[in-house]
Amino acid sequence: MPQVVPQVVPRMVHPRPLLTDRPAESTPMLKINDLHAFYGKSHVLHGVHFDVQPGEIVALLGRNGSGRSTTAKAIMGLVECTGHIEWNGQNITGRKAYEVAHMGLGYVPESRDIFPSLTVHQNLMLGEKGRTAKSRGKGRWNFEDMYLMFPRLRERQHTEAGVLSGGEQQMLTLCRTLMGDPDLIIIDEPTEGLAPKIVELVGEFLQKLKQRGISVLLIEQKLTIAMAISDRALVMGHGSIVFQGTPDSLRADAYIRKEWLEV
Ligand SMILES: Nc1ncnc2c1ncn2[C@@H]1O[C@H](COP(=O)(O)OP(=O)(O)O)[C@@H](O)[C@H]1O
Ligand SMILES: [Mg+2]
Repeated sequence: MPQVVPQVVPRMVHPRPLLTDRPAESTPMLKINDLHAFYGKSHVLHGVHFDVQPGEIVALLGRNGSGRSTTAKAIMGLVECTGHIEWNGQNITGRKAYEVAHMGLGYVPESRDIFPSLTVHQNLMLGEKGRTAKSRGKGRWNFEDMYLMFPRLRERQHTEAGVLSGGEQQMLTLCRTLMGDPDLIIIDEPTEGLAPKIVELVGEFLQKLKQRGISVLLIEQKLTIAMAISDRALVMGHGSIVFQGTPDSLRADAYIRKEWLEV
């Protein structure tokens, strides 16, 4: 009998093995335990613990200063920390940032790092260079995917990235990181300061990641997008996780929202 394989995602050249090859009781992809982080003498994370399962979108919520960005930086090897950060069963605590990135962890910092004197297309090419040897040349994403997701980037592909608007720079940073073909992407406040129309685009972008089974750790302060697309929500306060649950259970928990989220 001829085998008919439905082509759900036509451009996915390298289907992600993790979802199908794993045993039913899947182990977390990212597992964080008793994480402490420091800026010099200042101790800002106090025993953070959570995990992210393959294909899961987890929102990391909290007020400004609660420690969300520091958590991201600790995972990415960008801040001094102690504790356990496990990535696919391997302890990566204290690894150098470039090593972590090459293991399939993508990171979009708050600062929207782009190379301002390079064109949009060149910035995307640099993202592609960050791929692990394993996925080089056969990553899940290509330039066309990026330009279809954000047509504005196609229009501006030969423009120097430094002259783009804030929203366009955010799109470019998201796409550049995705070109590195991460299995999990940590995105720090992607909608901060953006116009509602662009926020909507970022929301659609996150949905696309979910459709392709990429895990996402989404750092946000506002609940709107995070609650709409997340499988699970974490709330941080004073450098610890103070709540873990489904978006619905967070919606229902007026105390947590008032105490740790509302401004
Ligand atoms: N580079 C830094 N040096 C010293 N303290 C910092 C630095 N970055 C952040 N902090 C402090 O660490 C705490 C957590 O900050 P951060 O992780 O940026 O919070 P969030 O991302 O949730 O707003 C805050 O008290 C902040 O002032
Ligand atoms: Mg932050």
